[in-house]
Parts: sequence; C-alpha cells; structure tokens
Amino acid sequence: MVCLGNICRSPLAEGILKEKLPNNLFTVDSAGTAGFHIGRPPDPRSIDVAAQNGISIGHLKAREFTPADFRKFDKIYVMDRQNLSQVQSLAATPEEENKVTLIMESEEIPDPYYGGVEDFKTVFDLLNTACNARRDQLLKNLS
Ligand code: 4NP
Repeated sequence: MVCLGNICRSPLAEGILKEKLPNNLFTVDSAGTAGFHIGRPPDPRSIDVAAQNGISIGHLKAREFTPADFRKFDKIYVMDRQNLSQVQSLAATPEEENKVTLIMESEEIPDPYYGGVEDFKTVFDLLNTACNARRDQLLKNLS
C-alpha cells in the first residue's frame, strides 16, 4: 500500500487489508513515496478512524518506498495517480512496473491530510470497499 507520506491513507489501507486476509498466507505492508515522516506513527485521525472500526494501526511507523519493494511484493497498490507515476518511475523492468495499480481502478483515494475528520471517514469507507474487492481477487488467485 503506497501513498505520499505513509501516515494517512496507506497505513489505514494496510490495517484494513490485513484484517481481511489470512496472515499466514499474505504479508501486507505500506510505504510513502516521500520521506517527510519517516519513523513517525500514522496521523492521529487515521489511528482514530481505524480504532472506531476495530482496527489497530498506532504501532505502525512510516517508511519510504524503495526499489527493493518491487522484489519483495507481488502487488503494489497506490492511492492516487501521482503515487502511480512516482512508483512506476522507480521500476527497473516492465514486470516491476506491471505490479503497480491504483487500489481503486476507477477512483483515486483523496489525500485527507489538509482535510478534517469527515475526510478521514470518507477515506476509510473508500479503502474498505477497495480492500473487499482486492481480498476477493487475491483469494481467487490462490485457488
Ligand atoms: P498520506 O497523506 O499521503 O495519505 O500519508 C499525506 C501526509 C503528509 C503530507 C501529505 C499527504 N505532507 O505533505 O506532509
């Protein structure tokens, strides 16, 4: 799961998808394309909206996406088109580039950083819908 700062959207996406998948079969992680917040926990508004939905993300720490992530992960889901082009620009091969997709194919997950609590709720709902679809696809691909 990749966003810009790895403190608002992608840690929420990580927490939500982790809840939906068997943890013995999948590794879910998140990162940011920018390094502004490396080592920091998620934004308190993301921690709160996750907690209201029974998901704990307060222990996560922001990190920057690195090219090694292309080798560690089979799928790289990004939140918006800016993240998409940033991450794709780091790919070394067409196979790596093909691992990168918008988490919601037809919609971007809007950056809530300069918004309010309502914007974080909207992001939660979008990510929950997106992660239900991704879970179904990932589990189908296993069988
Ligand atoms: P995120 O949100 O990409 O969803 O983590 C942001 C967090 C921080 C900043 C921008 C977006 N920032 O400019 O510091």
